Amino acid sequence: LQIADRISAQGMLSDIWETPRVLRQLIQAHLKDGKVDIPGLRKPLPEAHGLAGKSPLEILAACSQSRMSEKGFCHRLTVIGSGTSWHAAILAEYLIETMARIPVESQYASEFRYREPTLRTGDVLVVVSMSGETTDAVEALRRVRNSPSGTGVLTIAIVNQLDSTLARECDFVLDVCAGQGVGVASTKTFSATNMMFVLLSLALADECGQIGAERESLVQRLQELPDSMQEVLDKEAKPLVTEVGDRSIEIGECPLWDIGCQNVLARNFIFLGRGFNFPIALEGAMKCKELAYIHAEGYPAAEMKHGPIALIDEFMPVVVICPKADATYEKIKSNIEEVRARNGATIAITEKHNHELEKLCEYVIGVPETHEYLMPLLAMLPLQLLAYMMGILKGNAVDAPRGLVKSVSVS
Ligand code: G6P
Repeated sequence: LQIADRISAQGMLSDIWETPRVLRQLIQAHLKDGKVDIPGLRKPLPEAHGLAGKSPLEILAACSQSRMSEKGFCHRLTVIGSGTSWHAAILAEYLIETMARIPVESQYASEFRYREPTLRTGDVLVVVSMSGETTDAVEALRRVRNSPSGTGVLTIAIVNQLDSTLARECDFVLDVCAGQGVGVASTKTFSATNMMFVLLSLALADECGQIGAERESLVQRLQELPDSMQEVLDKEAKPLVTEVGDRSIEIGECPLWDIGCQNVLARNFIFLGRGFNFPIALEGAMKCKELAYIHAEGYPAAEMKHGPIALIDEFMPVVVICPKADATYEKIKSNIEEVRARNGATIAITEKHNHELEKLCEYVIGVPETHEYLMPLLAMLPLQLLAYMMGILKGNAVDAPRGLVKSVSVS
């Protein structure tokens, strides 16, 4: 295949390309003078609701450990979703717990749907669904609604479609405003959903008095994030985009293209990340399956030793999200050494000033420094691009991968 032909199906590349713009708009709309301003978050619920008179923010804040009753009881927050939205739900769990000290449980919508509902009055169910129509998510919501305490549970939809079943049936709706995507597999909508969770977590942290000195640096990094994302795209994908018009590609001009070429014949991939970056490892593996049709597993890095390590040899590329600023950096580095000792090749994502992984890894993808809560959003871009490029190299229908649909409406 000629490179130009492989590139011609570049539709969904524009989705990834739009991410900084979408996030910039979201931040501008919801962060005013450093304060989170989400429409309706402070507005009391209507009278018909079991929690009438209270605002979504008050009900959410009541789940914080800082509001725990003397009996040690605190309300529960459950976040559910399917596919990529489930990965966003896991990131939400890490963000909300860390920033607002609210215990959060994330679950697959398809599993939650068939479990006995245990949510009680004052608990919160957050349903994440880009389309707002995924049957498992809708039916999970209805199951809770129809349970004995259902009317006292606050339900929140996080969607990219205001005109959707979930948006209509939940008490409160957060619109991630990512616009229509070309690709079936979500990219910019995932990033926008993650950004919405960062903003919601910050609002909750403020409300619960749980954020101190780090607030200022977080807000500053938040405002820098769209530019940092643009920098990653310019470095990793712009050569690809600009050359497409001329229908000629300089292989090697684009570092990720090079990595894609070297690894596209792999039958399997492992993606590793810890903490906030664990869901990104899961999503990186998902994109690899969806776009490149390559089997991939996402794992928390430390779990590699409990099984996946047996698979590692020279044919198993291992992608590791390894920010130097992370408390677990040295531990992840030793995971990379374990891969190396087994002749596996690692592709690391780390801060661009961190050069010490270069001697350990086959490839290092450098991204700008950011706050640890935001690194998952930044690290996601190269992983989406890598899967996309490998899909293109294989001649796959990356915009509409086989067997996948935008919204699954079967049970
Ligand atoms: C389908 C799509 C996935 C998506 C999932 C959940 O399987 O192919 O890309 O993550 O549905 O969709 P939702 O609209 O609920 O986020």
